[in-house]
Amino acid sequence: MLPSNKLLGLAILGLFISVKSAAAAAADADPCARIAGNKTASFQDAKACLDHFKYDKDIAQQTVDTIRKVTNELYVFNDVAASPPTVEGLAIPAVNISYGLDLILDEDWKSDREFQEAVALLLDKVQDAHLSYSPFCYRQFIFWQPIQLNALLRNKRLVANVAYVKNDVWPEAKESWVGCEVTEIDGLEAMDMIVNYAVNNNGESKDVNTCFNNIMNTKSYFHGWDDGADDLGYHRFLPAQEFHNYTMRCPKSGTLPVQDEYDEPFTVQVPWVAQVPPNFQTADSYWASFCKSAHQNDHQNITKRTIHYDLHELKTINEGEVFALNSGGVNIATNAVGNSRGPYIEFIQLTGHNEKVGVIDIQSFSIASQDRQAFTDEFIAGLENFEAKGVEKIILDLSSNGGGDACAGEFIINTFFNSTPDYASDIKYSPFLERVIEKAHKQENTKWIDYKSSGFEGSSWFTQTKEYTRGRSTVKFSQPVSLSCESWDDTVTTKKYHNTKWKSSDVLILSDGRCGSTCAIVASRLRLSHQVPAMGLGGIRGNRMQFASFPGGESDRLSSFLMDLEILGMVDDPDAPAPFPERADMGWTFREVYKPTSSFSGQETDLLEYSAINADCRIYFDDNNADDIKKLWADVAKVILAGQCPLVNDE
Ligand SMILES: *[C@@H]1O[C@H](CO)[C@@H](O)[C@H](O)[C@H]1NC(C)=O
Ligand SMILES: *[C@@H]1O[C@H](CO)[C@@H](O)[C@H](O)[C@H]1NC(C)=O
Ligand SMILES: *[C@@H]1O[C@H](CO)[C@@H](O)[C@H](O)[C@H]1NC(C)=O
Ligand SMILES: *[C@@H]1O[C@H](CO)[C@@H](O)[C@H](O)[C@H]1NC(C)=O
Repeated sequence: MLPSNKLLGLAILGLFISVKSAAAAAADADPCARIAGNKTASFQDAKACLDHFKYDKDIAQQTVDTIRKVTNELYVFNDVAASPPTVEGLAIPAVNISYGLDLILDEDWKSDREFQEAVALLLDKVQDAHLSYSPFCYRQFIFWQPIQLNALLRNKRLVANVAYVKNDVWPEAKESWVGCEVTEIDGLEAMDMIVNYAVNNNGESKDVNTCFNNIMNTKSYFHGWDDGADDLGYHRFLPAQEFHNYTMRCPKSGTLPVQDEYDEPFTVQVPWVAQVPPNFQTADSYWASFCKSAHQNDHQNITKRTIHYDLHELKTINEGEVFALNSGGVNIATNAVGNSRGPYIEFIQLTGHNEKVGVIDIQSFSIASQDRQAFTDEFIAGLENFEAKGVEKIILDLSSNGGGDACAGEFIINTFFNSTPDYASDIKYSPFLERVIEKAHKQENTKWIDYKSSGFEGSSWFTQTKEYTRGRSTVKFSQPVSLSCESWDDTVTTKKYHNTKWKSSDVLILSDGRCGSTCAIVASRLRLSHQVPAMGLGGIRGNRMQFASFPGGESDRLSSFLMDLEILGMVDDPDAPAPFPERADMGWTFREVYKPTSSFSGQETDLLEYSAINADCRIYFDDNNADDIKKLWADVAKVILAGQCPLVNDE
């Protein structure tokens, strides 16, 4: 036995030890509690929290079942994706989604996160930004590289340049690195590493130039839209590695980067730093706040008979209100498409030598229904004002425009060039979607009644199918349809306006390739049907570049599709996809759009999504214009005034 005073001492010591070790044990057991309330966390600490949630085979099975149902029955490019055509200028890997899902289910994942990310990555690989899976549980942290890079043309070389540093997340980042050239990353030639990264980590486009632009960060990133998931220096998901090594060379003191005089190069190891979301204290509360779906009862599988869709949750997800952190300036959309909230459009007349040039900066076509009238009024007033001020040339800046409402795009084309015939499009047939469309017609409800095919009444445009070859399969489609903009037009009273001032050659599309969805269709129509030339911005030097991406046609998201099913009373349909067991959403293309052709044949080589349409000329960011969009526009104005970007006839 120990003397009592010692016992007491030990007991007190023991008390301290046990308090300390209980806290440590709690932290070990609960890695989320360890970082809760902190502004930032290290990569490892954030990873420990995200990987705390165990892989669950039931959750995996239910998730995969829903994705498989949607991709098999509704995703219009499912078959062509599995064995795509070879298109010069596009990088299209073959992805058999169903087979990929089988492989994912066969794996014994170490955590739920790893499983969820594998699913997201599989859909990403199709390089169609409309096709996505977003597990919101694992999109709450924001991961930053404290060094943000842009790509600049400097002395005729495209270089990776430090655009800015984020010393608010990592105090060791030095302001003096801004303007330094990054020559190597992780021991590879910097440009090689970046191009590889763009090819392997970015699912935005089939054009690698667009992916390249998407992962770089210009300081004054001038448009609000970003899918915010997979940049070189900014992630919504856990990055693949903890650090990157950057080798930099900085201009000698008192010299400019273009003078090409450098101090000794040096290498820094830069960590990914996680910004921690608010609203959780422990792993359990993290799960409750960000992961748990209203469709998942604690110990119950989702089965058709037990669920009713939780409309509140679907709406929250659909409106993108699922992120605890907003990244300050970067407008986060739940998937790549739409969701931007004004300003939609700006008219800017340039000054000085360029005063005869006006810019129409169209940031988004996602016009909220209550804004439609203002949007059309402002567009026409803008053109009238340009006309009154003697503007002779127009730069139509469509960079970083994620699309939105097809009818808003239609309005812009028609205002400039009177009417354009709509491009042919069709929707993949399935017996399930037939039931949906028939019910929609019966109830005169949901968007499924907005499609028309001349000569077909009611839902017969869908039920009288056509067959085309897609990949190695023969696939059934609806009759060619167009989207009726009647109901859109009914909501606005448009002033009569006829453009007599600007010809096609007076207009120039400017795009960094990140003009997606509706934007892509508008840009392609302007270029292909109205001969408006297009200037590509950025990308990899020496490659020809597309000015638009994911022109697939029209996309839907599970959250809105399920709301449609609820409205139509089709929740119990045996083929209806079940909601995800975790908070998540997916998007897919359901309508495919064709290029204008003299006669419609339904061939996959006529699909816009699988066509390369190159820009006619090109411009790059440089040291002068990268941080100032007005300077970039002035550089573009010089080209348009000199007539140096004529239409190139590729055919
Ligand atoms: C969280 O923040 C507190 C207070 O700043 C700090 O003492 C603690 O080390 C941080 N925890 C982690 C895991 O970084
Ligand atoms: C995908 O692969 C599976 C199994 O290999 C095959 O049965 C199926 O036809 C493929 N799907 C497509 C769309 O090619
Ligand atoms: C970065 O450099 C460190 C130190 O030289 C090295 O240990 C590490 O493996 C490098 N990391 C990468 C990703 O290249
Ligand atoms: C969920 O369903 C699967 C098969 O449908 C079954 O194997 C599993 O035991 C169920 N899990 C629970 C918790 O009921």
